[in-house]
Amino acid sequence: MIELTHTILETRAVVQKQISEGKTIGFVPTMGALHQGHLELVCQAVLENDFVVVSIFVNPIQFNNADDLAKYPRTLESDILKLGETGCKLVFAPSADEMYPEPDLTKFDFGLLDKVMEGKFRPGHFKGVAIVVKKLLEIVMPTKAYFGEKDFQQLAIIKKMVNKLQMPVLIVPCAIVREPDGLAMSSRNARLTEAERAEAPVLYRALSGIKENYSWFIPDGIRQLIRGEIQENQLFRIEYVDIVDTETLQPFEDWSDVEHAVVCVAAFIGNVRLIDNIVLY
Ligand code: PAJ
Repeated sequence: MIELTHTILETRAVVQKQISEGKTIGFVPTMGALHQGHLELVCQAVLENDFVVVSIFVNPIQFNNADDLAKYPRTLESDILKLGETGCKLVFAPSADEMYPEPDLTKFDFGLLDKVMEGKFRPGHFKGVAIVVKKLLEIVMPTKAYFGEKDFQQLAIIKKMVNKLQMPVLIVPCAIVREPDGLAMSSRNARLTEAERAEAPVLYRALSGIKENYSWFIPDGIRQLIRGEIQENQLFRIEYVDIVDTETLQPFEDWSDVEHAVVCVAAFIGNVRLIDNIVLY
């Protein structure tokens, strides 16, 4: 049976009992509207831990666009049904008042990590993410917490935060789960019109198309190639295409400058903002 809690107190009590019995706790924080991408994280957590907790909380302070927050899908009942089939034991679905009885003024310094890409185009976003994830980790006290590589920069920032604060949790990165046509699964995909949905895989095609032969060009040449391919499609409006070091998230001049590189892209298709990435090496 899957249990549902709405308060921090109840959640702590359930988890503390498990910890006192020597159980390991796996944790998957989400904003709900669950799809297979989320469920893969949960399934991995179930495989690797005795007791798995999923949080469902549409975190208002990480949205820098009121319309995006208002339109974010909220589907708690069907989410719980899906989670019931995974082996997850506890769903924590707090209200905004429960999480933020008063404004949380915690400050973080991520150096250059949050100055690029998503951080640049969504000011304040990662501050909101870090505040909520820190709070959730303190409530759930997991042994391992699972994050998708779909949100590559978010994962880097959470790893940095956990390291800096020396939080006793292992952050586990999970591969991007895609639709059969390559589109990265996302709760926002449900908002695409039929025509937009048909074109959306262009993002992944542009990224995966350069995976084999990228080294024939300089990084900036590849950046331009990808931009060009996406822009051929009139429905897209690109925010950024960046090729960066997987650790520092900073751009570089030459392939030999970094050990591992990732291409990250964000683009609007109609009103829907999509992100995707591919690790090159
Ligand atoms: P959300 O967008 O609901 O995503 C929850 C987790 O699922 C994140 O770690 C995300 O990277 C992962 N995920 C989403 N789509 C995925 C896909 N197609 N393949 C693999 N993993 C995928 O990310 C958030 O929520 C929030 O910022 C949160 C961390 C919960 C803080 O509010």
